[in-house]
Amino acid sequence: MGKQKSTSASLSLFGDSSPELTAPTPKRRNRKAIGLPPGLPLDKYEKDEEGRLREIVGAWVRDKHAILQNYVGIASAVRNKWVARGPAGTTYIDLFSGPGRVRIKDTDDVLFGSPLLAWTYSQQRSAAFTNIYVADAHPSLVEDCRVRLEAEAAPVEFETGRAVDTVDRIIGRLNKYSYHFAFLDPFSLGALSFGVIQKLAKLQHIDILIHVSVQDLNRNLRKYINKEGASLDIFAPGWRDSVDINRSDQHVRAKIFEYWGNLLKTIGLPVAEATELISGEKNQPLYWLAFAARNKLAHAFWDKIRRVQPDVQKQLISG
Ligand SMILES: C[S@@+](CC[C@H](N)C(=O)[O-])C[C@H]1O[C@@H](n2cnc3c(N)ncnc32)[C@H](O)[C@@H]1O
Repeated sequence: MGKQKSTSASLSLFGDSSPELTAPTPKRRNRKAIGLPPGLPLDKYEKDEEGRLREIVGAWVRDKHAILQNYVGIASAVRNKWVARGPAGTTYIDLFSGPGRVRIKDTDDVLFGSPLLAWTYSQQRSAAFTNIYVADAHPSLVEDCRVRLEAEAAPVEFETGRAVDTVDRIIGRLNKYSYHFAFLDPFSLGALSFGVIQKLAKLQHIDILIHVSVQDLNRNLRKYINKEGASLDIFAPGWRDSVDINRSDQHVRAKIFEYWGNLLKTIGLPVAEATELISGEKNQPLYWLAFAARNKLAHAFWDKIRRVQPDVQKQLISG
């Protein structure tokens, strides 16, 4: 993994100020001074020494990226076979790309973001993706991601906008005979529209790694239940007819996830039974990484690279 140390620029709000102005200096970050574009939260983004954006993330990002990297690695031989077979090639699709760099909060550890990781690791394994498609709702993030991928000589194409819109534009450019791998990594359930997965599932050869925000589900379950047509209905349309909302929160959450898994099966894309739970520093559940594919070998790969044992995982999901 391309790990770099940042030389975290110290940004003085006052410049070379007189002694009476310097003490005590409040440690507040200032959007203008940092040059952070509107729409990006001050506590989640910063600029690096080259003036490009990077996301500030929790240490758990290492788990998420390790799983992504493992899957890119284990599928190398299949990608090479595909490329040897004909011109269709192999694609990596990242509809929630971010800027391509992250820094772990309260540390100087700077890591690749998901598209950079997928691309560089596929190269390292001598099974480089032949096409990389990235998109993000925020134009500055996708722009910095594109620049970084191009600097690594990636065959990148990009789109800006919400995944529900970019998915059509990107699918329109794909070679339908390619072997596709998509990573869907939104912050919230509402951004993970089932329609996006449904459209990707129409591609014959596709494996999808999906971030499902447990934190969002835990924090907002009752709010979402009370708001018809909002996040949960976008994530798992029709769930209201199948889940008894009068049961405990834990039960309702498990049933919604089960319903979502079954919904994926109906579009021909089974979700692997064992799903990785990524937890935060205080062991609080943050999200599941779910794996969906129709190919048996892909599921066998997933079984090899995921780390939680199926029995433990069942407990985590059903409470
Ligand atoms: C968790 S971050 C992605 C991190 C990146 N995958 C990585 O591992 O480096 C989620 C990204 O989704 C973007 N986003 C939020 N809502 C979106 C939507 N509806 N469609 C597309 N992108 C969205 C955000 O701007 C943010 O960059």
